[in-house]
Amino acid sequence: MKKNLNYMKILFIITSFNSLSQKVYVELKKLDHVIHIEYFINENYIENIKNKISNYNPDMIICPFLTKKIPEEIYNNYLVLILHPGIPGDAGPSSLDWAIYYNEELWGVTLLKADNEFDKGPIVDYKIFNMPKRENLTKSSLYRKEIVDASKEIIINTVNKYTNCKKIDFLNIDKKGKSRPLMNQKYRKVDFNANNTNEIFKNINMSDSQPGVLINIKCVYNNIKNTYKFILSNNLDKVNDYYMYGAHIESLNYIINYDIYKNADIGEIFMQRDHAICIKTKDSALWVTHLRKSKNKNDNFKGLYVKLPAIYSISKFNDKIFNINKSHIIYNKKLNNTFQEIYYEINGNVSNVYFNFYNGAMSTYQCRKMIHVLNEIINNDEIKIVVLFGGNEYFSNGINLCTIQESFDPSIESWKNINAINDIVEIILTSNKYFISAIKGNCGAGGVTMAISSDYVISKESVIFNMHYKGMGLYGSEYWTYILPKRIGKKKTKELVDNVLPIDTIYAKKIGLIDEYINENSYAFEQDILKYINSCIINNINILIEDKKKTINEDFDKIQKCRYNELKIMKENFFDKNSSYHELRSNFVKKINPLKTPNNISLPQSNEEDIIYTCLIKDK
Ligand code: COA
Repeated sequence: MKKNLNYMKILFIITSFNSLSQKVYVELKKLDHVIHIEYFINENYIENIKNKISNYNPDMIICPFLTKKIPEEIYNNYLVLILHPGIPGDAGPSSLDWAIYYNEELWGVTLLKADNEFDKGPIVDYKIFNMPKRENLTKSSLYRKEIVDASKEIIINTVNKYTNCKKIDFLNIDKKGKSRPLMNQKYRKVDFNANNTNEIFKNINMSDSQPGVLINIKCVYNNIKNTYKFILSNNLDKVNDYYMYGAHIESLNYIINYDIYKNADIGEIFMQRDHAICIKTKDSALWVTHLRKSKNKNDNFKGLYVKLPAIYSISKFNDKIFNINKSHIIYNKKLNNTFQEIYYEINGNVSNVYFNFYNGAMSTYQCRKMIHVLNEIINNDEIKIVVLFGGNEYFSNGINLCTIQESFDPSIESWKNINAINDIVEIILTSNKYFISAIKGNCGAGGVTMAISSDYVISKESVIFNMHYKGMGLYGSEYWTYILPKRIGKKKTKELVDNVLPIDTIYAKKIGLIDEYINENSYAFEQDILKYINSCIINNINILIEDKKKTINEDFDKIQKCRYNELKIMKENFFDKNSSYHELRSNFVKKINPLKTPNNISLPQSNEEDIIYTCLIKDK
């Protein structure tokens, strides 16, 4: 039975069920509203669902992330609210890009009533915030953090007001923003000979994670030295053009051979590390971790090229890139101003592990690196507690579907990747250390299971968990059949795995998926975790570890059996060429829109839910 007697029937019309839509969805669900979702796949699709909409008769339609225009017939008949990631008056599809480009001090979000012009409808609510000052401010981090937080607040306020008085007030305010066009590559363009490192860094960040900064990467033969070099320039030729992502400034303190740097040309790739490329700039050097090949007229396949670790991306067209000098770094210390995706620190008998994998995706290579780091830690007898901090934006999204897609054999690579991530979970589950997951960013699919495999799981309140194995056509592994029922029981496990819906920390704690959550910024969050360890864990640590050993001894066979059984089904998912996984994965990484909204979230086909809803109203 619903608790909130004033709940509403809300429909989301969205481009994709992205992090912002997921956040608003879970917040509204908490208030017991009934929510359905339809993707705006194309004009025809929306025409076709008009009937469904009129059968369902929603109280309100919300569009937290929509890049298309709502048809007049819909906004004339229903209250349709559009969320725009800009201050009042701002309009256009590149709001955040322009906000970073112009170094805006203040930015915000605006909730508007749908109108016949994009972002121009009457304003319902807005929120202004200070632009964050973090040095690695990317467009996607601004969106996933500040925009999500502010949007959640104004949408919930508006829905609450509307629920109580069934009326929307429009604001008559001074609109400081302007209408700005789609930002094209002219504004993102970088010139290694003219721009300094900070300027290039800013342009890549402003364009990350979409569309990236377009650049040409040419392989040049030096016949005197009989070597090849790779040069980045603006001489676009549609054949060797790539989009760049994942920028990190290099301070030049971690270059093994300074002569190689000195002798390189500006714009030359002179070093590689963990499949990222390091490019000499006018005043130092810059790492680029990911590239997406630009599609040209002759590429007649569906979707986009896959975004890949830079070395993999270039090697698809020229394997001489593998000859670039490799630079390895240590893991047992944080190094500033370089590219370091995983490291750990030791304080007494506590070790903090930070792993910031791009988009939270963990390739076989990255999993093995993490295993190496965890083994270094667990072989240190001084250490008793291991805190897994993950990254700021994502804790983990499970195996890396992009590197799998573009591997020599995706079935074999999927198999290697799942085994590698399983090995990480095995260490967390079975080693004689007390593991704490301190989750700062969202988790998806196997990343959720990995996060909750620790002995204690604490999360920032804002985190969203997506138990999305099924959405990718997978049974899932990472010992979920052992970990989930143990934490939340069989019934909830089935619900979570079958529903394929995002859940928030409050619900996650309520059902026992996580142990605690804290509402804090990243720095304070880390401080709170350390305080918690000092006050509640350190004094009992030997007992906690003994208890863990006992449980593992008792459950050892069961744990191994769970892995075996999960992998047996996963093998079918991976190696059966007809399994839906291959198509779903390919569409996901090539950004090919689904043909329809998934059934678990879409509007009901019949009036079945109306009947339930009418009964609920009668119950009020
Ligand atoms: N492998 C490779 N890339 C991944 C990934 C994965 N497992 N999970 C997410 N990404 C990438 C997306 O392609 C997207 O890339 P972009 O930079 O080109 O835009 C980026 O991460 C953000 O993902 P997005 O879906 O936009 O983020 P979200 O926060 O809105 O949604 C999820 C999160 C988890 C629902 C969604 O990313 C997802 O379903 N991921 C796949 C999870 C999975 O099936 N893992 C494998 C099984 S263990």
